[in-house]
Amino acid sequence: MDNKLCRLKDFFANRCILITGGTGFIGMALIEALLTSSPDLRRIYVVVREKKGLKPAERIFKLLSSEIFDHLSPETKAKVVPILGDLTAENFGIEPSILAEIRGTVTVVYHNAGLIKFNRSLKDTVLMNVLSTLRCIELAKSLAKLSAFIYTSSITANTNIQGKISEKVYKTKRSPKEMIMLALESPSTLDKVPEIKSDMIEGHVNSYTYSKQLAENLILEELSGFPAGIVRPALGHVKGGVRSICGNPRTIHFSIPCDHVVNCMMALAVSLGTQEISPKLPVVAHLCNNRTVNPITMQDFVKILNEESWKNPCDTYFLLPRIKIRNGFRGIIYFIASYLAAIALFVPEKFINISTGKIKGINIVDMQYKLSRHIAELCNVIYD
Ligand SMILES: NC(=O)c1ccc[n+]([C@@H]2O[C@H](COP(=O)([O-])OP(=O)(O)OC[C@H]3O[C@@H](n4cnc5c(N)ncnc54)[C@H](OP(=O)(O)O)[C@@H]3O)[C@@H](O)[C@H]2O)c1
Repeated sequence: MDNKLCRLKDFFANRCILITGGTGFIGMALIEALLTSSPDLRRIYVVVREKKGLKPAERIFKLLSSEIFDHLSPETKAKVVPILGDLTAENFGIEPSILAEIRGTVTVVYHNAGLIKFNRSLKDTVLMNVLSTLRCIELAKSLAKLSAFIYTSSITANTNIQGKISEKVYKTKRSPKEMIMLALESPSTLDKVPEIKSDMIEGHVNSYTYSKQLAENLILEELSGFPAGIVRPALGHVKGGVRSICGNPRTIHFSIPCDHVVNCMMALAVSLGTQEISPKLPVVAHLCNNRTVNPITMQDFVKILNEESWKNPCDTYFLLPRIKIRNGFRGIIYFIASYLAAIALFVPEKFINISTGKIKGINIVDMQYKLSRHIAELCNVIYD
């Protein structure tokens, strides 16, 4: 057997791990990879909330019934333990007896949960992405032994930085704790979507990327000297909405597959936990295509995506992907037509300064999106 796999297997043997965001895209792949690669792993605690009338145990049962876990035995699946928790509450609001068990046994923490919505208020993103990180750090620091703390950030976390972005944490002007206080104590300052001005989010493109940068800053402030790591994946799971991409088809696409991301997340835990590197600062890892190993062009990426998603559609698709790269005149027409509806609604909204994004119960952002989608579909018909 390969040496590295042996080390990984040995490292996780008998260990208990805590994961947030285990019910999501990356979390699910991480749980599967951990169970598959480390047969002697003891337990994976997954902090889960109740959702759509399903209790954590029912949600984990549903998760483990999915096809990617089919190769695992019931005994292996039983290692996944659902824990009811609220990520913004102290100690995640975990019941005291379970909390004591976690504190005594868990040595590796993956804080992976995140609110990945680009149009949510700054208050929501700060609470979910920054306050939850603080709660997770506090819990990790209270463990009897912490071998590795890994935070899933994003390759987009530093979109306010011009030029080359390095594997280090870029300081925000406002401290993450100050933003948490603002979100908790004067939420009205942060809760209006259209009023998120670029100075409020320090030049970021949206509140999501800003919240990821704030969360990284929190790790820098709170976990220096601890075995902490930050991964910045470049991936995206499509829901089928994108119909057209403008760009050079020969450009190298920088995303990488999800299994590479989870492999790196496991390998980083091994490195941090075996003191191969003993960081004073958190280790930051960009998980993206570096253009030299297995490069894939945009054209090939789109082709594979279109073909594979028709063969194996995700149950989260609201439209099957049918992406085309459109450039020049066709691209411009397509772009303008697609966004005409959005512009038609957005401009008057800005003009009369309706800051809530709603008129008499109609969600403008939602309406813009739906209209744009229909026009995009129409363009597809005309062009095809
Ligand atoms: N996928 C990407 O393209 C991508 C790229 C770069 C970085 N990332 C980062 O990777 C992490 C995981 O992303 P993903 O793609 O797996 O996202 P996802 O599929 O949307 O899953 C998000 C996870 O976070 C949990 N979560 C969200 N809001 C929550 C809340 N208020 N309370 C409790 N749990 C909550 C979700 O739980 P429920 O099931 O209960 O909703 C789910 O388990 C995130 O931190 C994200 O920022 C993702």
